[in-house]
Amino acid sequence: MTVLVTGGAGYIGSHMVLELVDVGEQVVVLDNLSTGFRWAVPQQVPLFVGDTGDGKLAAEIIAKHKIRAIVHFAASIVVPDSVADPLSYYRNNTTNSRTLIEAAVNGRVEHFIFSSTAAVYGNPASVPVTEDAPTMPMSPYGSSKLMTETILRDVDHAHGLKHVILRYFNVAGADPKMRAGQSTPIATHLIKVAAQAALGIRPGMQVFGTDYPTADGTCIRDYIHVSDLVRAHSDALAHLRGGSPSLTANCGYGHGFSVLQVIETVKRVSGVDFTVERAPRRAGDPAQIVASSERARSALGWRPRFDDLPTIVTHALEWEKKLRELKT
Ligand code: UFG
Repeated sequence: MTVLVTGGAGYIGSHMVLELVDVGEQVVVLDNLSTGFRWAVPQQVPLFVGDTGDGKLAAEIIAKHKIRAIVHFAASIVVPDSVADPLSYYRNNTTNSRTLIEAAVNGRVEHFIFSSTAAVYGNPASVPVTEDAPTMPMSPYGSSKLMTETILRDVDHAHGLKHVILRYFNVAGADPKMRAGQSTPIATHLIKVAAQAALGIRPGMQVFGTDYPTADGTCIRDYIHVSDLVRAHSDALAHLRGGSPSLTANCGYGHGFSVLQVIETVKRVSGVDFTVERAPRRAGDPAQIVASSERARSALGWRPRFDDLPTIVTHALEWEKKLRELKT
């Protein structure tokens, strides 16, 4: 019962691989190494370098390793990039996923866990947002993921490929044992950017938009520790293996922090008062998005362990220090 992890050399995928290996699962990784790293995949885990859009390769891996479950992370993930270059997001996140799903159906894969996103909700009318809220993405990124959700539901109906769609809120932090973390050289995500500013890796940072309809004028997000997020995937796999039906669930904690609150936390935890500038709004940013996490807790039995912003920030800072040491 080998599990195929696509994007397993990337940030969240590499944490998933560790989580599966830790409990003795057989794992193989498919990753094109466009943003992932060969070193992020443990040596005993076979790594296939290629695209999820390569149907022939996907079929070969599924047959050779008798894949029964796929956890599909491989994707492009930067909201403003998707606004600038929508076609590459639709290719990578929608078309390539369709090809992988086709290979899964033909190869008799039973279970499929899909990395979706809170961006499918757009700017929700109220928070916390439940899974039944209308889906109105504000960016090609959100749309590209929502289309794959639709494909999965139709394919389940037609071919019985059971899925769990997990809609991630804002993933941050690093493996508490410091075996993995967010390693991309070009940081865009808030906590990583702020951690780099605190460590002097960048001169300072900007706050994108201070005129949002929130208490302090900056955007509110639900930041979830990457280890809690991958645990939700293990819970999802157990759910499907136990014969339970396909499901869509949010992955967030159910409470949000503003950009200024996050920056304040990074300053407090690091003890560094770095430079912060006010800047215009960034394209595609909703003002406020916070998860209702009831369904993940009740249907999947998900129990988060790191629901604490200073802990998330501490792990992000530790990982950033480790990366700096690796480079010097
Ligand atoms: N921000 C700044 N300065 C920075 C970086 C970010 O002010 O240097 C702000 C953004 O404008 C936004 C907030 O911090 O208001 C969070 O931005 P991130 O880039 O960290 O994350 P996003 O909310 O844009 O996106 C994340 C994931 C997506 C997911 C989305 C759901 O990357 O995959 O959350 O809301 F879809």
